[in-house]
Parts: sequence; structure tokens; C-alpha cells
Amino acid sequence: MQYFGLVLAFSWLAFVQGKVPPPSPDGKYTIEAPGIKASFIPYSAAITNLFVPDHNGTLRDLVLGYDTADEYATDKIHPNYGAIPGRYANRIANATYELDGVRYYTQRNNAPNSTMHSGTNGWSYRVWNVTDVCHDSITFTLRDEPFSSEGMPGLVLGRVTYSVKPNTWIISIEAEATTHRTPLMLTNHAYWQLDAFANPYNDTVLNHTFSMPFSKRQLAYDSVAEVNGTILHIPQHSINDFWSSPKHVGANASAKGWIGNCGPGFGGYDCAVTIDHDHLNPKNPQPYSQPVATLRSDWSGIQWDMYSNQAGFAFTSCGFFPKDILPVKKTQGGPGSANDGFVPTYGCLAVEPQDWTSGIDYPEWGREPYQIYGPENGVYRNEVVYKFSAS
Ligand SMILES: *[C@@H]1O[C@H](CO)[C@@H](O)[C@H](O)[C@H]1NC(C)=O
Ligand SMILES: *[C@@H]1O[C@H](CO)[C@@H](O)[C@H](O)[C@H]1NC(C)=O
Ligand SMILES: *[C@@H]1O[C@H](CO)[C@@H](O)[C@H](O)[C@H]1NC(C)=O
Ligand SMILES: *[C@@H]1O[C@H](CO)[C@@H](O)[C@H](O)[C@H]1NC(C)=O
Ligand SMILES: *[C@@H]1O[C@H](CO)[C@@H](O)[C@H](O)[C@H]1NC(C)=O
Ligand SMILES: *[C@@H]1O[C@H](CO)[C@@H](O)[C@H](O)[C@H]1NC(C)=O
Ligand SMILES: *[C@@H]1O[C@H](CO)[C@@H](O)[C@H](O)[C@H]1NC(C)=O
Ligand SMILES: *[C@@H]1O[C@H](CO)[C@@H](O)[C@H](O)[C@H]1NC(C)=O
Repeated sequence: MQYFGLVLAFSWLAFVQGKVPPPSPDGKYTIEAPGIKASFIPYSAAITNLFVPDHNGTLRDLVLGYDTADEYATDKIHPNYGAIPGRYANRIANATYELDGVRYYTQRNNAPNSTMHSGTNGWSYRVWNVTDVCHDSITFTLRDEPFSSEGMPGLVLGRVTYSVKPNTWIISIEAEATTHRTPLMLTNHAYWQLDAFANPYNDTVLNHTFSMPFSKRQLAYDSVAEVNGTILHIPQHSINDFWSSPKHVGANASAKGWIGNCGPGFGGYDCAVTIDHDHLNPKNPQPYSQPVATLRSDWSGIQWDMYSNQAGFAFTSCGFFPKDILPVKKTQGGPGSANDGFVPTYGCLAVEPQDWTSGIDYPEWGREPYQIYGPENGVYRNEVVYKFSAS
């Protein structure tokens, strides 16, 4: 009796305080709208599942991840599945940068010398707070104390709201640097497989059709895949040309230069490109009205069109993914499925809308207004919209 009284008292307290409901037993929170159902976890504020119908009406789970929330925190490979990396996504060359005359040293967690996603206590390694959840939306918040990631000064308050509308997924990432000027660059790191590993003929994304109509320039890399400061025009018909017309991700797999294209020792894409169009304003909270990237698979018939307010992408075709180590989720067939049950090399495509990567290493690019925030520099906003269709 006493025990039940206590439980009731606590439930009532939780109710009046507006506490969020608990997740399902697998640790996931699920939201839905017509034609879409998505699940999320507090660890790294990640999307774990995203179901949309294929051209036959069969629901397909399009993002890579794990069956349960627990596996995200224990996985040693840590691919940042579906996560929000931060507070400064992607690389910082030589693990150091200068800001307002002070040199900062960040964690060297990416061989040989650089920082990746702000190190191993970055935002994609943290358990976020769930501050709001309803049937079609969830909000996570993060209090990032000064120097809780090496070399990152000042308090930052981060917030991501994921919501769904009919056939649409909306990602709204905001952050405020309340005490100090600091680098800020965030993104969502969903890895896509539009056949959900169910295509019996092929479990890679090499036959997915991809386009980025406004991405005519790339940030050149040096021999260790660091951005070297040079911005190159992407010639028509070259391996990295997804602007002149859509093509298969693997269309140029036999071309000279495919291996090592954007990183030593592996093939395909792990590149950074700009999004160039006249109407883009990274400070504008509204995404640009035309898709900046489109991905489609003829087998499932599923297509997404992505809208963004950012000035660039990092994107990867998972050519560096170790073979037969990362299991596919049960919702994507799991072990013993038509394919071998593991994510293959080239098994996914991640497209990370963000400002120009490594911009804090190259002040001459003039990206400071979009990558450095402080009490006087407004709110950082990264808005992404995915619209799904099937035919
Ligand atoms: C990083 O260090 C290497 C080797 O010392 C140097 O060549 C390169 O210019 C440095 N990168 C930046 C952005 O300072
Ligand atoms: C890495 O840093 C070391 C010194 O800390 C330097 O000798 C080496 O050249 C750097 N390597 C690259 C690829 O920048
Ligand atoms: C979650 O909220 C609590 C209470 O406000 C706070 O102490 C904690 O730092 C927050 N955790 C994160 C990851 O922001
Ligand atoms: C998948 O398709 C690509 C491109 O046609 C091909 O290179 C690859 O060998 C195929 N993989 C399998 C397992 O059939
Ligand atoms: C993949 O696309 C290539 C052309 O790029 C085609 O030759 C091949 O048959 C396709 N493979 C599958 C499994 O659809
Ligand atoms: C950067 O690398 C590209 C080739 O990937 C090269 O054309 C360019 O000259 C390099 N820039 C610098 C500053 O080394
Ligand atoms: C890449 O593939 C496209 C589409 O098939 C083709 O037009 C282009 O010539 C290829 N480029 C190279 C470098 O192979
Ligand atoms: C759709 O249905 C047709 C007919 O049953 C089947 O051949 C095809 O494989 C299905 N496609 C998918 C993506 O399930």
C-alpha cells in the first residue's frame, strides 16, 4: 500500500511538473505523422529509425543504427549514427585554432593530428535531456560547460527539435554561446540506405541516384584528408560532379582517382562541398525553397529531397566502413537477412548540411560570422527538411 502510494505521488508530481513520458523498453521515443514514423534516443540526440513507405506501400527503415538505445553508447566504432556532433562538427586541423588572439588546443582524436567532431566528449557522446515530447515532435537540450570538450571556451546551450509532418522530417538545431565567443558548427549525421538493406540484388548505395545541384566547389584535401585551404571548382563530368545532372553514387567507381578521391586508402566520397546559390543566407532560419540535395533508389522507389539553410555539406559514401563488423538492425533484416546481415563497404550515404568544414582554420574564407558565436553574435541555427516520396 505504502509503495503504491509513493508511486502514485511520484507520478502525480511528474504530471504536474510536465515531465516527459518515458521511452519504450528499447530506450527509444517515437513520433509519427501520415507516411512517416521516426524514433530517437537521448544519447547523442540521435535518430535511430525512420520508416516511410516504399513504392509498394511497405514500410522501410531508412537510417542506420542499432536495435536498442544502449548499443549506441557502448559501440567502440562510434560512427555517429544519426547523431548531433558538436560543438564544432568535423575536423580541426592540427587540433588547434586561434580565436580573438588566443590559441586553443583541442583533442587529437583523429589520426594523425586533427580533432574530429570536437573529440571524445563531444555532443555525440553525451546523454541529452529530453525536454519536450508529443505525438509528432521531440526536443532535446544540452548544457555544454566551458572546456568540457578540450579547447572549447564558454558555456553553450544546445537544442534540437525533431518533428514530423506528412511525409516530412524537420530538424531544427539551435545553440547559444552565452558567456564567451566560441566555434559553433552543428549538423545531423543520419546515414541513409533507401533500400533498408532489403534489396536482394545489392546492399550498397552505389546504385542510389544522387544530386547536389548547387555544389560546384569542393574544399580540397591534403594527403591526410585535412582541408588544405584551397577551394576547387568541380568540373562537369568529374567524379565529384553531382551538380550538372543526377548520377549513381557508384557511377565513377572504375574511374581513375576513385580510390583516394577524398581520403587516403578508400574509394568514393568523404568530401566537403559548398552550396552556392544567390538566395542562401546561413543566418536565415528558413531553409532555401529548392532542394539542395536529392537521393533516390529505383529498387524501393523511395526518394528524399533535402532543404537547408547552410552553405555546405560534408558527405560520405561509407567507403571506409569496415566490412562485416557493424550489424544491420532487425528492422532492416538483421542477421541472416537476404544480405549478410552486416553493413557493407559503400552500404550508406551520410549527407551533413553545415557551414564550410574546418572554416576556423582558414580565416581568409570569411566564415567567422557563421562559425563563431558569443553573447553578442545571435543564435546559431541549422534547419534541415527532408521530404519523402515513392514512385
Ligand atoms: C598542420 O600542420 C602541418 C604540418 O606541420 C602543416 O603543413 C599544415 O599547414 C597545418 N595546417 C594548418 C591549417 O595550419
Ligand atoms: C603531426 O604533428 C607532428 C608534430 O606534433 C608533426 O611532426 C607532423 O608533421 C604532423 N603530421 C601532419 C600530417 O601534419
Ligand atoms: C539536464 O538537466 C539537468 C537539470 O536541469 C542539468 O543539471 C543537466 O546538466 C542537464 N544535462 C545536459 C546533458 O544538458
Ligand atoms: C552492387 O552494385 C554495384 C554497382 O553496380 C556493384 O559494383 C557491386 O558489386 C554490387 N554489389 C553486389 C553485392 O552485388
Ligand atoms: C547498377 O547500376 C549500373 C549502372 O550504373 C548497372 O550497370 C547495374 O546493373 C546496376 N545494378 C543493380 C543491382 O541494379
Ligand atoms: C590543396 O590540395 C589541392 C589538391 O587536392 C591542390 O590543388 C592545392 O594546391 C592544395 N593547396 C595547398 C594550399 O596546398
Ligand atoms: C562519371 O559518371 C558519369 C555518369 O555515368 C559520366 O558521365 C562521367 O563521364 C564519369 N566521369 C568519370 C571521370 O568517369
Ligand atoms: C514490389 O512488389 C513487386 C510485386 O510483388 C515486387 O516484385 C517488388 O520486389 C516489390 N518491391 C519492393 C521494393 O518491395
